[in-house]
Amino acid sequence: MELEFKRHRRLRKHATLRNMVRETQLQPSDFIYPIFITEEQDKKTEVSSMPGVFQLSLDRLNEEVEEVESLGIPAIILFGLPHHKDETGSEAYASQGIIQRATRQIKQAFPDMMVIADTCLCEFTDHGHCGLIHEGDVLNDESLELLAQTAVSQAEAGADIIAPSNMMDGFVAAIRQGLNQAGYTHIPIMSYAVKYASAFYGPFRDAANSAPAFGDRKTYQMDPANRREALREAQSDIEEGADFLIVKPALSYLDIVRDVSNQTTIPVVAYNVSGEYAMVKAAAQNGWINEEAVVLEKLTSMKRAGADLILTYFAKDAVRWITKET
Ligand code: PBG
Ligand code: ZN
Repeated sequence: MELEFKRHRRLRKHATLRNMVRETQLQPSDFIYPIFITEEQDKKTEVSSMPGVFQLSLDRLNEEVEEVESLGIPAIILFGLPHHKDETGSEAYASQGIIQRATRQIKQAFPDMMVIADTCLCEFTDHGHCGLIHEGDVLNDESLELLAQTAVSQAEAGADIIAPSNMMDGFVAAIRQGLNQAGYTHIPIMSYAVKYASAFYGPFRDAANSAPAFGDRKTYQMDPANRREALREAQSDIEEGADFLIVKPALSYLDIVRDVSNQTTIPVVAYNVSGEYAMVKAAAQNGWINEEAVVLEKLTSMKRAGADLILTYFAKDAVRWITKET
């Protein structure tokens, strides 16, 4: 009997040939590296649930940025651990706030490094929510003004990109208007447009000391069960003036990354979040997986799903792995 079938293995026979037909390639310019900055002095404290990730004081910051820059990673995103927290998160929009000081310091020493400022209140409020609170509710419209003020103070300090993560309705419109009125029409907004109320943020809240003191974030972040809602969130942020859209988390949400990237022409960013990092680290430390292979497979999958950029705690390792001579 004569069998008829296709020979797909022809293109897999040789490593060089496999490289020639590879559809997705990772490169250093794909990555954004997150940095946590503490207002203490001479501190480089490892986050226990995120091995290899540190809270850094201002005097230890430049060595880190230097390393990121030398690897060819074009951008960092800053998260702050302020000395002082209060009801309204005033250190988020203080001209001498930790993010503002860090931004000025980095831009002075590394003018070509793109500094992205995460714009939210939860790291700066004593209740740990991303907006103002009244009788247990997170207020929407009343929070917008403070978010706009935060974005303007970050732009004043020299931030290249504003990345609002708070999930209040209208936050892109409010921030765009605030930036425009202050003369920062040229500053792009990288919106956390599609942000789910995810259990994968646990280690980040250790790192940034930003867990909510009561309740959860389900009245403002999205329900993980929803898909079409992501398109509504993406659409409204584009209309309000976003220049990039973030989908977060990444791994359990690659279908959403694909949907959003199919529906938009602006760049899409996948946020490979803290819990996704911690799980890989834990398995690798136990010797249960090959960390390098697993990480590169996951990051490649994010790009394959349609991400133009990847925000990840693995950025430095990933670049070392993809650029090493084999
Ligand atoms: C703050 C913020 C969070 C993350 C990024 N910005 C935490 C949250 O919403 O609770 C999570 C990042 C991660 O888990 O890596 N709004
Ligand atoms: Zn927040």
